[in-house]
Amino acid sequence: MKSIEEANIKEGMRVLVRVDWNVPLTESGEVADTSRIEAALQTIEYIKNKGGTPVVISHFGRSGDSLDPVINFACKRYLILVDGVEFLENLRKNPGEEGNSEEFAKELASKADIYVNEAFSVSHRTHASIVGVPKFIPAYAGFSFLKEFKNLSGVFNPGHPFLFILGGAKFETKLPLVEKFLQIADDVFIGGALAVKASEMSDSRGTPIADNPKIIFPIGDIAAMDANSETLDLLSEKIKQAKFILWNGPLGNYEKGFVAGTVALSRMLAESGAEVIVGGGDTLATVKTEIKDKISSHGFISTAGGAMLDFLAKGTLPGIEALN
Ligand code: 3PG
Ligand code: MG
Repeated sequence: MKSIEEANIKEGMRVLVRVDWNVPLTESGEVADTSRIEAALQTIEYIKNKGGTPVVISHFGRSGDSLDPVINFACKRYLILVDGVEFLENLRKNPGEEGNSEEFAKELASKADIYVNEAFSVSHRTHASIVGVPKFIPAYAGFSFLKEFKNLSGVFNPGHPFLFILGGAKFETKLPLVEKFLQIADDVFIGGALAVKASEMSDSRGTPIADNPKIIFPIGDIAAMDANSETLDLLSEKIKQAKFILWNGPLGNYEKGFVAGTVALSRMLAESGAEVIVGGGDTLATVKTEIKDKISSHGFISTAGGAMLDFLAKGTLPGIEALN
């Protein structure tokens, strides 16, 4: 994987920058979490300083959604975007994006001299703008992409005790990840909607997940809408002992507004002395900036949700392979 710093960007060069501005919006249409926008700014500034023109591309929501509200918000807030930056429409408006059509990849590649992937959080998708474009023009990794890669790779060589906290939904898709981390971690807490399913399932050898001594479930009612105080106390004890903590996914029913357990956990992680790696996309929209800053001072907050899980399970992503 080559860094953007190896690209030798010159005056007048056009640089296609794939970002992930698939940001959560509030009910009134405001951007609820600016992390993914901010993650791309260093790369955009770097290109402009070299005299190049960034051509920014992103997907947003479903295929029909317009990216304009996000671009307008970003341009108002970040001056670096105002002059000399071009934007294209939501990539997913073209079915060739998700269909990974060669024709669409060529069309995108024709708009620039080189390509930079600054969208680690969507690099688990084999879409045209992720894996197709690098076949046609020289391709590089952006600053934020490289930071994600480096920090998440640290999870494969953690300090101990290593506490893994996994929340969210769809346990079936997360089972391989849990099995892998039962080998690396010392404690694996399974919360949120995951816990119910996990308590009923067996691993690939047929052993019930619940029988593994490393597994910790919420205390009391595992079908509860949010983590209760006993569960948070137990987590607090484990967090105090841990040297390394990895957290992905909410502890409560996030969609229905049960965010208290997730927020409480984020505060405990901010105060902890461990190295802390956190991800989970939309989950982090509820976590206050000052808490995130505190966590970042002794750890790393990933912009990725699904891509983080895939990277942790497989050690690579289609978007990484495409740059190699
Ligand atoms: C995300 O929000 O997780 C990424 O932008 C990927 O979006 P997707 O899940 O719609 O592919
Ligand atoms: Mg998603």
